Amino acid sequence: MTTADGSVETYRALFGDTPFTVVSNREPYVPRVDDFGTVSWSHPAGGLTAALDPVMQAMGGTWIAWGSQPTGSPRGRAAASPLPTRLQAPPGADRNTYEVRRVRLTENEVRHYYHGYANESLWPLCHNLLEHVRFRDRFWKAYGDVNGKFAAAVLEQAPDERTLIWLHDYHLALAPELIRRRRPASLIAHFWHIPWPAWDTFRVCPNHRQLLEGLLANDLLAFHLESFVDNFIRCCEQDLDALVDPRKRAVIHRGHVTTLRALPISIDAESMRHLASSPDTDVRVTELRARFGLAGRRVGIGVDRLDYSKGILERIDALRILFTRHPELVGTFTFIQVGAPSRTEIPAYAELQRRVQAAVERLNRSFERPDWQPILYIPNGASPPELAAFYRIADVAIVSSLQDGMNLVAKEFVAAQVEGTGVLCLSEFAGAAEEFDQALIVNPFYVEGFAEDIRRALSMDPAEKRERMRRMQDRLEEGNVYRWIADFFEAAREALDLGHSRPHGEDPRSAPTPRVEVPPRAAAVPPRE
Ligand code: G6P
Repeated sequence: MTTADGSVETYRALFGDTPFTVVSNREPYVPRVDDFGTVSWSHPAGGLTAALDPVMQAMGGTWIAWGSQPTGSPRGRAAASPLPTRLQAPPGADRNTYEVRRVRLTENEVRHYYHGYANESLWPLCHNLLEHVRFRDRFWKAYGDVNGKFAAAVLEQAPDERTLIWLHDYHLALAPELIRRRRPASLIAHFWHIPWPAWDTFRVCPNHRQLLEGLLANDLLAFHLESFVDNFIRCCEQDLDALVDPRKRAVIHRGHVTTLRALPISIDAESMRHLASSPDTDVRVTELRARFGLAGRRVGIGVDRLDYSKGILERIDALRILFTRHPELVGTFTFIQVGAPSRTEIPAYAELQRRVQAAVERLNRSFERPDWQPILYIPNGASPPELAAFYRIADVAIVSSLQDGMNLVAKEFVAAQVEGTGVLCLSEFAGAAEEFDQALIVNPFYVEGFAEDIRRALSMDPAEKRERMRRMQDRLEEGNVYRWIADFFEAAREALDLGHSRPHGEDPRSAPTPRVEVPPRAAAVPPRE
C-alpha cells in the first residue's frame, strides 16, 4: 500500500521541485457556522478531498476551489463576518500547510454554473439519464464565465510556468483551454470523475464541440475506465478534425497532444479497515444493534448521496418485491438506508428526496410489524465511524447505481469487512464492477431479477461469502488512493514526455506548442508496494 508520503516521493522523483496546484469545484474544507456566527471547517462528503488533503499537506502547494457560503445556522450566517478568499489548510494548523485559494462566485453564477450547467446539463448527460438533462443559454454562459474565473485564479496563483496544474471533474471542462491560451507551455492534467458517455448521447449537448476542445488543451486527461476513454476518443473522431493515435491513446488537436488514460480511483482502504476493526467500532456495533432492534435479524445497508443516478428508488422497489415473494424475510431482515442530501436546490434532487421518503413510508406501511420495520431510513448522512459500524453489521450491502463513474461506497464496504461475511450486491453499471467481479452483479433496471439477487445474497453459503470477499479484498489491496495519485503523476509525466517527443510535422496543421522544461526524471521512482 502506498502512503500519502509515497505519492509525494513519486511526485518529487518525476517532477523535482515543480510547484503543484490542484483545482476543483469543491473546496477541501467547507465552512459551517453555529448560532453565534463561529465558523468551523471540515471535509465535505466524498473521499477525494479527504484523500488529497494529506498529500497537499506533505507537499505544500495551492488548491483553488469555489469558496462556498457556510452552511448551518441561518442566524449564525447573518452574524458571521465574510469568509476569507485565501486560507491556510488545514485550518488552524501551523505546519505542513498549503494554501487554499477560494474563488468567489456570485449567487447567479452558483445557480447557473453549479446547479445549472454542471449539475442539470453535464451530470445527467454523462450519466446517460437524458430525462433529467436541461440546457439553457444562461447555464452555458455562466459555465464559461466561471471557468474563466478559475483559469484567471490559476494564472494568477501559479506564476511559475512549470507548475503542474491538476484539474478535477466536469465543472471545469473549459478551464484547460482558457489557461493554455494565455500560457501555451502550461503543464495541465485533468481527472474526469464521472462517466464519459457514448457519442450518440454526448451529441445531444449543444456545446459538444466546445467541451471537447476545452478538454483537449490538457496534456493528460484521465477517466476511471477504458470504456470511458473509448467513448471520448470516438467523440473526438466524430466531432473534430483531430488526429487520434489509438496505440498511444492520444489525440492531437490543433498541434497539441492530449494523452488519455484509464486510472480507476480507490480509497484509503487501510484507514477504513483500521476504523472498522477498532474497539470503538465494536462498541458502536453493539449500540446500533440494540438501538435499531437488529439482534437476531439479518441486515442490509445502502449508503448514497441522494442522487437519481444511484438507483435508490429501484432498490426500494426490489425490496418490495423481495418481501412480497419471500414472506419468511418479513420481520427477519432489516434494510438500513443512509442518504446524504445533495444539490437540493435542483428540482430533480428535491423531487428525488420526496420520492425516496414516500417510497420508504409506503413500503414500511405495507410490511411493518409492532417490533419491526423493513427499512430504517437515515436521511441526513452518517459520520465515517458510524458508517464503519453499519458496514460491519451488514450481511449485504447494495450499490444499485443506474450509472456511476466508480462508486467508492462499494470499496469502503469491502475494506470494512473485517469478518469477511458480508455480500456486496453491485450494479453492473458502476465502475467498481470492473474490479469486483466477485460481487453479486445486479441489473437495477430489472427489479425482479434484482430482488432475487438480494435473496441469493442473504442465503449464500458462508464459505462462498468469505471466498468472494477475500478475493475482493485482495483486489482492493492492489492499489489504494495514494497509489492512484502516484499513478496519476506518472501518467502526467509520460504525457509531458510524449508531448515533448512528438516529431515536428506529425500533425501538419500547426506547429507543436513550445513546452517548458520540467526537470528530468530522477533515476528511480519509488517501487510499487
Ligand atoms: C461527485 C462528483 C464530485 C462532487 C461530488 C459531490 O462525486 O464527481 O466532483 O464533488 O459528487 O457533489 P457536490 O455537488 O456536492 O460537490
